[in-house]
Amino acid sequence: MVQPSPFPYFGPLAAGEVAGRDELRADLVRRMQQRRLTALLGPRRYGKTSILRQVAADLEVEGYGTVWVDLYELSSMADLAGAFDRGMASTRGPLREALHSLAGSLSLQLGVLGLELARSPRDRPDPTLRLRTLVQVLVQLAERQPLLLVLDEFAGIANVDHGAGLLRTELQHHYRDLGICFAGSQPSTMATLFGDRAQPFFSQADLVHLGPMADADVAAIVESGFERTQRRARLVVGSIVVLAEGHPQRAMQLADAVWQLVPEGGVAKPEHWEVALANVRAAVDSSSERLFQLVPTGHQKVLRIVAGGGSVYGTAASVLDLSTGTARAAVAALLGSADLRRDDDGKLRLVDPLFADWIRRRFPV
Ligand SMILES: Nc1ncnc2c1ncn2[C@@H]1O[C@H](COP(=O)(O)OP(=O)(O)OP(=O)(O)O)[C@@H](O)[C@H]1O
Ligand SMILES: [Mg+2]
Repeated sequence: MVQPSPFPYFGPLAAGEVAGRDELRADLVRRMQQRRLTALLGPRRYGKTSILRQVAADLEVEGYGTVWVDLYELSSMADLAGAFDRGMASTRGPLREALHSLAGSLSLQLGVLGLELARSPRDRPDPTLRLRTLVQVLVQLAERQPLLLVLDEFAGIANVDHGAGLLRTELQHHYRDLGICFAGSQPSTMATLFGDRAQPFFSQADLVHLGPMADADVAAIVESGFERTQRRARLVVGSIVVLAEGHPQRAMQLADAVWQLVPEGGVAKPEHWEVALANVRAAVDSSSERLFQLVPTGHQKVLRIVAGGGSVYGTAASVLDLSTGTARAAVAALLGSADLRRDDDGKLRLVDPLFADWIRRRFPV
């Protein structure tokens, strides 16, 4: 039988596969128990969905049910209502029964909104009214049993006219009844949604930032994944940790690439690392190139300088004819899109270390 890799790196992890992040995990569980409105913010593929799945599993042990609504790339009120309908219909066990029965008492069938919206305009439900009813079902259920509502990819709400307003109206008097956690990866959109004091309700949410993983945690994940599968990683752990720069998904991808080359009972060697790195580069280089071509010239210059470890206001900037004004605007935009991060040492870094790696090879200094 082919042994599954201990380093899955596509999509969210199942609860139980989430490694490290213990403090954050406990903090999020406590917040939900205390009904503290919370927004979990972090760059793409940093593990937001994974950790929230783990938090949901932790709370399930205490009798909580979870309704998971994915707001990815919504563009209309119908999409938003559809996301709630799907989220509520895809629950399991007693929660599923309770939701269906409550919805039934309001003459609603869960999980069929997509079909209903495809009917002729005369027979089609009004998505705004439907969404209101769905949220009311959730609120009523929360009066009977502990409930967690996860609104993942919440930045998607910004594309729905009146979407945020409607959720606020429906939830603002009930947020003490259920645990609500928003998650999102677009810092600029999330800051507008949650940072604006003029936005009641959302601005009450505590912002919790999901940062890069500590190097020691990445090292422990790599070593234990190899050990669990009867292999040893000591000689390559350092290379993985250094290149990954705390990016959880990239760390797993690099670890997987090495793991694939090492037979059971074997020891990962620097030669394996070289081949693994070449394989990963071959897999991601073309998307790095496309991404780079898509950004404006000022952004490209900033990315080149930051990837090379220089200062966007220093010598490297003057070599590239990057004015201070352009640099400042590009840095703000790239921080806002989570392409750049500013670390505790004050230094800017690219969020995606493999994108930085491609830029360094493409534009050697
Ligand atoms: N705690 C963790 N332990 C091990 N791997 C992790 C952890 N968190 C994230 N990862 C890695 O990152 C990948 C992406 O995780 P996940 O989908 O949860 O991130 P996300 O922030 O929700 O991403 P997106 O913004 O694309 O929705 C996982 O497949 C896994 O490889
Ligand atoms: Mg996610």
